[in-house]
Amino acid sequence: MIDTARMAATATPALPTLLRLLADGTRLRMLALLRREELTVGELARALGLAQSRVSNHLRQLREIGLLFERHVGKHTHLKLAGRGNDLIGRVWSALEESLADMPEHAADLARLDGVLAERQRGADFFDRVAGDYDKLAVRFSSGQARQRTAAHLAAARGLTVADLGCGTGYMTQPLVGLVERVVCVDRSEAMLEQARERLADSGLDLEFRVGDLDLLPIADGEVDALVAGMVLHHLADLEHAFTEMRRVVRPGGRAVVLELFPHTQTWIHEALGDRFLGIAPTDVTRAMERSGFVNVVIDAVEDRYEPVGPGGESASLPLYLVRGERPPEPV
Ligand SMILES: C[S@@+](CC[C@H](N)C(=O)[O-])C[C@H]1O[C@@H](n2cnc3c(N)ncnc32)[C@H](O)[C@@H]1O
Repeated sequence: MIDTARMAATATPALPTLLRLLADGTRLRMLALLRREELTVGELARALGLAQSRVSNHLRQLREIGLLFERHVGKHTHLKLAGRGNDLIGRVWSALEESLADMPEHAADLARLDGVLAERQRGADFFDRVAGDYDKLAVRFSSGQARQRTAAHLAAARGLTVADLGCGTGYMTQPLVGLVERVVCVDRSEAMLEQARERLADSGLDLEFRVGDLDLLPIADGEVDALVAGMVLHHLADLEHAFTEMRRVVRPGGRAVVLELFPHTQTWIHEALGDRFLGIAPTDVTRAMERSGFVNVVIDAVEDRYEPVGPGGESASLPLYLVRGERPPEPV
């Protein structure tokens, strides 16, 4: 994994340039949030209630000031405020910093920031908490054909390395036995990875378990020949961002296959299974994949259904679909 940190600017701008760059409400709101918390660009955009592209434009300008500290992991950027000394920027910043809280949008920004941080925490905690019991929640699903269908799309990757993203307890990894040689299992819950490790101990696969987020995959550029992501997209805040990351880690010409739920109305699943979204429209998935640079994107039907059972005896039978696409081959 590539992890580099650097100050986002080098040269100190002249005072008029510095003041011009600071004299923008959105940029000040960004600085006010980054003063409190290190955030990814996506998290910052959600906390501000703005499109990521707009936030990225402002960030480009803020880079000239040298107030930001950036940590790069793969292609992604985590941002926070850099400590300042007694240089021009430091002095201007000290005079300004305390007044940021007076901006009219600040209270709403902070409330959204709390939501973003709570979401980050909730998502991370849920699977750690339920890991030991997860297979009871999803037991009926484990015997279905959906994952075999997903795995079958990787037949072209025989003998090669596949990433299983959001691998959970390893249900999606299991059908890869005999099809591929090596699997890099990624999940942000260590407890789920531990269950997967146990389940797959005798699988004969060459396995590697890595703790990490789909927002910021712990996989090098082009490291895997293909990837699967089973039942994890509905946990993600930003689909396009996740697919951009997937495209980065799969080699040119490599394939991505995702298994997902159609939109549904079983609200108890939010609580019982920690799902952020109640399914996702297949066209939202294809659009995000195509925008992230995947080609030959195709939706496939799946016969069997997802049949979770809640702790209070709730149950549902929900239809599923597959989407597959390819990273374009490198031009020769
Ligand atoms: C519903 S389980 C699916 C597990 C497995 N892929 C399957 O098909 O059974 C979702 C898994 O995705 C993981 N997960 C959710 N959001 C994630 C994220 N942003 N990054 C990495 N893993 C995530 C959870 O920890 C959980 O283990």
